[in-house]
Amino acid sequence: MLRQLAGGGIAHDGDLPGRDEQQYAPTGCGAGAAPAEHPGENHRRQQRSNTHDHRPELVVLLCSFIASCSILAMLPGGQSTSPAAWTANDLADNPHDAADKAQRVHSMFTAIAHSYDLNNRIHSFGLDQSWRRRAVDLARVQPTDRVLDAACGTGDLAEAFAAAGAAGVVGVDFAEKMLGIARSKSARARRRPGTNTPTYRRADVTTLPFPDECFDVVSIAFGIRNVADPRQALAEFRRVLRRRGRLLVLEFSQPANRFLRQLNHLYCHHIMPVTATLIAGDRSGAYRYLPRSVATFVDRERFMEMMLAADFNSVTQHPMTAGVCVAYLGHAGA
Ligand SMILES: C[S@@+](CC[C@H](N)C(=O)[O-])C[C@H]1O[C@@H](n2cnc3c(N)ncnc32)[C@H](O)[C@@H]1O
Repeated sequence: MLRQLAGGGIAHDGDLPGRDEQQYAPTGCGAGAAPAEHPGENHRRQQRSNTHDHRPELVVLLCSFIASCSILAMLPGGQSTSPAAWTANDLADNPHDAADKAQRVHSMFTAIAHSYDLNNRIHSFGLDQSWRRRAVDLARVQPTDRVLDAACGTGDLAEAFAAAGAAGVVGVDFAEKMLGIARSKSARARRRPGTNTPTYRRADVTTLPFPDECFDVVSIAFGIRNVADPRQALAEFRRVLRRRGRLLVLEFSQPANRFLRQLNHLYCHHIMPVTATLIAGDRSGAYRYLPRSVATFVDRERFMEMMLAADFNSVTQHPMTAGVCVAYLGHAGA
């Protein structure tokens, strides 16, 4: 755990593996174990229970999950006809180095927009919205704050900022299909009296159509990894932030714990791409690009250095769900 703040330093929150990990600790026999009739009987019983094969249950569970996903894939809106944005060959290389990354990312999100939210909820087991809420908490929104949500996609984070009472929220994204969903969700949203409705507009986050120093908070959730030039985006975020403004970046990462990292790798590289592709009826390669783009993106330390280089200070990282997701917070000016 590194804590090295003060004037442009870097700091970590605790990256605690949490309760999940403890549940894997071997448990004792517990009360009520029958006394051994023969020497070694308890040991054999223990061995029998330890060697109980859970694989059939797991296979049934996985098959039901895939079957449910196939049914969901048949719902209206499925089956994208767009050509592949990312082929297996493209993904063998580092996708962040692709000269046409911006166009590929744009066509990928255009292809999967219709099922983007559903896939997020299913494949994060509903956690994605709590990660966004935590990000909003970290930004400590004031009733006078103007918020820019960059790469807003279908608008979940922009809506969370509006619900938290920001004075105004603007969401920008370069994929019109994602913005269309954001706008229709926003029109249907039920709001507490006194909360504002976000506005959504099409823009590239590397060339923001806003004057200098006009926002108090800039956020970007699961977007910076998808931007072709993240350094340029960070420079733009800094430019449009007022003095004492905050930048909040939410992004996927790798759990620090080795066992959880392997489990996460199995899920993200071998299970999620199959089920998410089925649900989206996708041919763009989006859900194979996703784990590859996370694995090849800069690590947490490098990303914090990028924020410091873009003139953010007091940069902190806040891992969530054992480090599967991380929120980075940086401040503009003193
Ligand atoms: C994974 S989605 C995240 C959407 C949303 N922030 C969320 O929390 O679900 C990434 C978004 O980044 C957008 N994007 C990528 N590069 C962009 C750029 N240069 N300018 C604007 N939007 C961009 C994509 O269109 C896509 O909607």
